[in-house]
Amino acid sequence: MKYQVPMGMKDITQESKIYRKLEDNFFKILLQEDFTEIRTPILEDKSLFIRSVGESSDIVSKEMFETKDGLVLRPENTAPVMRAFVNDQNINTKLAYFAPQFRRERPQKGRYRQFYQYGFEIINESAPQSEISSLLLIKRIYEQWGLTKYEFQVNYLGDKQDRENYIKTLTDYLRGVESKLSKISQERLQSNVLRILDSKEGEDQDIIKQAPSILDSLSENSKNQWQNILKLAQLVGLNIVINPLLVRGLDYYTGMVFEVVDTSGQLGSQKALGGGGRYDSLSKELGGPDVSAFGFAGGVERLILALNITNLPLSETKIGLITTEESVLSSFISLKAQFPMVKVDINYNCAMGFKKMFKRADKIGCTKVLIVGTQELSAGVVKVKDMVSGVETTISGSIESINLSNI
Ligand code: HAM
Repeated sequence: MKYQVPMGMKDITQESKIYRKLEDNFFKILLQEDFTEIRTPILEDKSLFIRSVGESSDIVSKEMFETKDGLVLRPENTAPVMRAFVNDQNINTKLAYFAPQFRRERPQKGRYRQFYQYGFEIINESAPQSEISSLLLIKRIYEQWGLTKYEFQVNYLGDKQDRENYIKTLTDYLRGVESKLSKISQERLQSNVLRILDSKEGEDQDIIKQAPSILDSLSENSKNQWQNILKLAQLVGLNIVINPLLVRGLDYYTGMVFEVVDTSGQLGSQKALGGGGRYDSLSKELGGPDVSAFGFAGGVERLILALNITNLPLSETKIGLITTEESVLSSFISLKAQFPMVKVDINYNCAMGFKKMFKRADKIGCTKVLIVGTQELSAGVVKVKDMVSGVETTISGSIESINLSNI
């Protein structure tokens, strides 16, 4: 009998190097910023998620893997982190994780039943500081991974009262057009009205476009807080896109919510690279003190798809790029940016000469060197020298077309 890996899950072997690198890079920045890594148990009480993520959310109502004794495989990490804080309020209030989560979803590209999240939670810091410093931190993390094609979509859900008011306004509006809504949205009208704004069903789109905006249901106080966030974003030069339809599928949010949306087109329909927001009432809800909190989590598998890294060299390779041609330099630089997970050393120096550049490449441990000199440039080829065996080969085609992961 041959056993298969469970549906929507995978063995990670060849790709484990990518996971290792992403995790190391992530923690390097987070630890510099005084975060502490937190590893919570993989199983938690089911009621923790009912209380936080919400009974009517998709995650809780249909996506949890449950054991016989009321435990579930964690579908996300914000509630477990807050539970850990409520249990021991002396822990660091800036916590980060890189950990597997489990949701019984219908698997498709970018959507799995076991997936990894990199994320962080900041407890006891109020708006607008956490909002803007978190987005800047995410930007920095993505920059070091070489991810450029994404945007921050943000919305403001206000406090509990604002949200209740909005749910009432939205329900009134949707009841008026109920018969035109898709079947699934008609069901959600009873169970989880806000999720209708997330609907991808064709017949719902015009109705959603004309729906009242949550931003019009905010109290004066919430409006001011929202304006303060927008002002600070502008002051620090942060580009954000306001999306009044962004509600997120988890109940614990108050205030600003956001998603990092892929714009590279690599992700198909699962465009959310990550998401997060403020959840000021969660600690109290879980029996803890009245403290504010803000956090973010991104999906590792979607990140790998967006970065377009399908395979990495099996052994640790450092590739040297050598040229004496100034015109090739920009191609080298963009090539390096395209393969953020491959170690690349660029060497351009017409005065130095090839011999010296090779010596340098050898000294810093390059295993392969790509050479584009005058001859190669005019012949439209790239020379590859294996620094261990000394063997030289020629690849036809321009330097731009080379896949550094396969060298
Ligand atoms: P979430 O939006 O449910 O938020 O998940 C965050 C990210 O995890 C998603 O944007 C996506 O990249 C990835 N993800 C979610 N489900 C799957 C799946 N089935 N397969 C692959 N990747 C997936 C949360 O989990 C919140 N805890 C985020 C947060 C932190 N809010 C405050 N702090």
